[in-house]
Amino acid sequence: SIDVATFTRQTGYTALDYGFVNTASTKSAITYIDGDAGILRYRGYPIEQLATHSTYLEVAWLLIYGELPTPDELAAFDNRIRRHTLLHEDLKRFFGSLPPTAHPMSVLSAATAALSTYYEDESDPHNPEHVEVNTIRLLAKLPVIAAYAHKKSIGQAFLYPDNGMSFVDNFLKLNFGVLSELYEVNPVVSRALERLLILHEDHEQNASTSTVRLVGSTGANQFSSISAGINALYGPLHGGANEAVLSMLAQIRDSGESVQRFVERVKNKEDGVKLMGFGHRVYKNYDPRAKLVKESADEVLSELGVHDPLLDLAKDLEEIALNDDYFKERRLYPNVDFYTGVMYKAMGFPTRMFTVLFAIGRLPGWIAQWREAIGDPQTKIGRPQQLYIGSPERNYPGV
Ligand code: ACO
Repeated sequence: SIDVATFTRQTGYTALDYGFVNTASTKSAITYIDGDAGILRYRGYPIEQLATHSTYLEVAWLLIYGELPTPDELAAFDNRIRRHTLLHEDLKRFFGSLPPTAHPMSVLSAATAALSTYYEDESDPHNPEHVEVNTIRLLAKLPVIAAYAHKKSIGQAFLYPDNGMSFVDNFLKLNFGVLSELYEVNPVVSRALERLLILHEDHEQNASTSTVRLVGSTGANQFSSISAGINALYGPLHGGANEAVLSMLAQIRDSGESVQRFVERVKNKEDGVKLMGFGHRVYKNYDPRAKLVKESADEVLSELGVHDPLLDLAKDLEEIALNDDYFKERRLYPNVDFYTGVMYKAMGFPTRMFTVLFAIGRLPGWIAQWREAIGDPQTKIGRPQQLYIGSPERNYPGV
């Protein structure tokens, strides 16, 4: 047997695989997906069980270290994260140099890249102590940066983290608390947000995770790799879809167009319009995360006493699409993003924060995948081939 590089060199064969539809870039022991059966497992545990019984930090540990933590391990992990939540005061001023109209995703990626400048002496990807402390820093500080991106976008003062609170409660307070006012956490909202974050924690080699691994394969540190992942997540075909779904629903409502007519336009591919929140590269069945989100959406809206016509619109769209041959033939089902936006909106997050919430959810997965790649002796710098289709050799005029 010979390795792929030798085979390519000796035979001259190169696989052309746009979008890497059939090319594995790595072996991984973290997440298992069976897209035809609609199965998702983290380290072997079904997502349904984790979303119901676990916490964000427990799942983060599971993804990163491979096993569920003991109660003592979890308490120590949680405690260490709480003690790393503060941002350098200079970094807080960095937010002021960005325009007030800045999209919170751009703020998050820029501030994450900027975070690395504070730890340059402790960012060797091959030093286990550096890797460990930066894992803690990322988990502790990115939610604070995310909340500050939110506060900046609405012109409110930044709050200091309250390290007496749990991870999710603290995050809610940083986003919705106001200086000098008591902030009371609604436990139903807190649990629903925790569940949403758990559902997003990993999803094997999606575009942003592959980006994190690719950037990491060059020897870049955790901060730089994850900042690149945030940028990859921003696009509307990936994490940006949750924002795009809400814009799509609002547009249908405001235009007065019927749901049926909108679906017809999607099917006719008029102006390239897509049913955002539908379809997935891997799931050719109902996305198991979307099922859980849909259940939570009803629960949270009812707890908050919100009746959002956009949720009704989403349900109508789903029903029409699932019974339509166009979607059936292409095996297009709701993905995780289809119902999350309605929930985030009910919780009070502005639309532009939705993808930021996805990023905070996905953070433990990015960290786990980056660490797995760094620790794998077979990891090489990622460097795809191309098939050159340009001009043959020719001479510069006059030569
Ligand atoms: N609405 C309408 N048609 C669609 C949709 C959609 N949402 N998704 C796919 N199709 C159609 C395509 O037009 C294509 O039709 P054709 O065979 O007539 O040309 C067929 O289904 C196959 O689609 P591809 O684009 O080849 O599928 P691919 O696996 O490359 O794309 C993707 C997957 C990007 C998720 C796509 O389904 C899409 O754009 N969905 C909308 C955006 C979205 O919700 N993204 C979030 C994904 S989940 C996540 O990142 C968390």
